[in-house]
Amino acid sequence: MDVRVVNQPLHQVEADVIVLPLFEGGVQAAAAELRSVMSQAADDFTGEYGQTLVIYSGGQIAARKVLALGLGKEDKLDIRKLRRAAGMAARAARETAAKSVAFAVPAVGSMPAGQVAQFMVEGAVHGLFRFETYKSEQPTKPNVEEIVMVGQEIESGVTYGRIVAEAANLSRQVNWTPGNHMTATKLAAVAQDICEQAGIEIEVYDKQGCQELGLGLLLAVNQGSVEEPRFIVMRYKGNGGQGPWLGIVGKGLTMDTGGISIKPSDGMWDMKYDMSGGGAVLGAVKAIGELKPKADILFVVPSTDNMPDGGAYKPGDVISGLSGKTVEIRSTDAEGRLILADGLAYAAKQGCTKLIEASTLTGAVQIALGPVRMGIVSNNDEWENEVYTAIEEAGERGWKLPHDQEYYEFFKSPIADMSNSGTARAAGSTVGGLFLMGHVGDVPCVHLDIASQAWNHGANKFEDEGATGVAVRSFVRAAVRWAEGNR
Ligand code: BES
Ligand code: ZN
Ligand code: ZN
Repeated sequence: MDVRVVNQPLHQVEADVIVLPLFEGGVQAAAAELRSVMSQAADDFTGEYGQTLVIYSGGQIAARKVLALGLGKEDKLDIRKLRRAAGMAARAARETAAKSVAFAVPAVGSMPAGQVAQFMVEGAVHGLFRFETYKSEQPTKPNVEEIVMVGQEIESGVTYGRIVAEAANLSRQVNWTPGNHMTATKLAAVAQDICEQAGIEIEVYDKQGCQELGLGLLLAVNQGSVEEPRFIVMRYKGNGGQGPWLGIVGKGLTMDTGGISIKPSDGMWDMKYDMSGGGAVLGAVKAIGELKPKADILFVVPSTDNMPDGGAYKPGDVISGLSGKTVEIRSTDAEGRLILADGLAYAAKQGCTKLIEASTLTGAVQIALGPVRMGIVSNNDEWENEVYTAIEEAGERGWKLPHDQEYYEFFKSPIADMSNSGTARAAGSTVGGLFLMGHVGDVPCVHLDIASQAWNHGANKFEDEGATGVAVRSFVRAAVRWAEGNR
């Protein structure tokens, strides 16, 4: 999709549809140049949030149609609502078979125009994404080919918005792809492609390579599979490789059946998106390769599926991996924390001074937070607050879960250093996060549990049902902030 900027009066902008965002109060607020067209709609358009109304311009202006977009009350609008509104407008424009869609960039409170434009582009590019890989027939409405942003001093915002949205869409494409197609080997191939295009160093370790590295936890999870694991390591040297290094890690579990502690079959297919954390890392690599922040970043994605088999790892087994800590397996379904413990230990041993990790780690976070926020668990308040700021600035949302010392008692093992699951179901998301902290030594680490947010379970006016690409934007923001000295 082409995204470009023009700076000209709205009535001169050539496009199939020009989107005119308006606050509540309706057409009176419309820019003078479009008022003649808009006056036809005065009765039908209130500017209520999310309202869209298509009006034929009848040759009065250069664009064929105007799409009035309600932004609601100005003091209620935030960056997330702005992004969603732009996505709704882009999708409504597509319903009219528009190939080119222009957006007037409205003045929103004290927000700089570049920021307004950034979030609108993010929403439009996100909203228009469709997962079409396995459909024999093309959808009836072809997709929009061109987005035109109309305004002044918006270039850099538009570029940033396009880059993160395209990166999030790449992540969605990967996360949406079923387990038989998106194996660990395939995920590594996708990573190779991204790194080749972005000029980023990559090393991919196969099963033997994982053995040589000592990734015993990843290998244990992989034991029941006919697919080989992959341990994907990418190095972006935006600061010349002199450090300090930020570590970004994601769970690349391509299909989670639960293993021997097998999941109920109802909805098991959902677990193909259990590599959404890893997918978010790949999206971030793509975006960071384009934005080129002055930062050194190590990206790590441990990848395998989790299958039951005669050779599979079992409840009761005691295993250990790169950190050297021994783990008693209580549930083979708590596999994400195992492969991530190796991924995080690797990043810490490579010299990363701070870590961020994202994973679809626990069902418990869905119960605690629903789809509105991701769960955050950390071993360091300062670093957690820094990452929290990045999440907020990115227009994503998280909630800090507690990390009191008492919670470590919840996953004690009588025979090993720790068990991979709490004895009761209490504080499931905190326990999952703190298990990870047990493998990074004293390196500050923030875990993002995106199990609640990685998949949209019901299509809406903003996005289709399916992968959401969550965490890409937060990772990218954290990388940019790292380059600015927030470490
Ligand atoms: N991949 C799941 C978590 C998950 C659940 C992701 C729902 C997305 C939606 C994870 O590997 C898992 O199975 N976790 C267990 C942990 C338990 C056994 C301690 C869980 O949440 O039930
Ligand atoms: Zn599991
Ligand atoms: Zn899992």
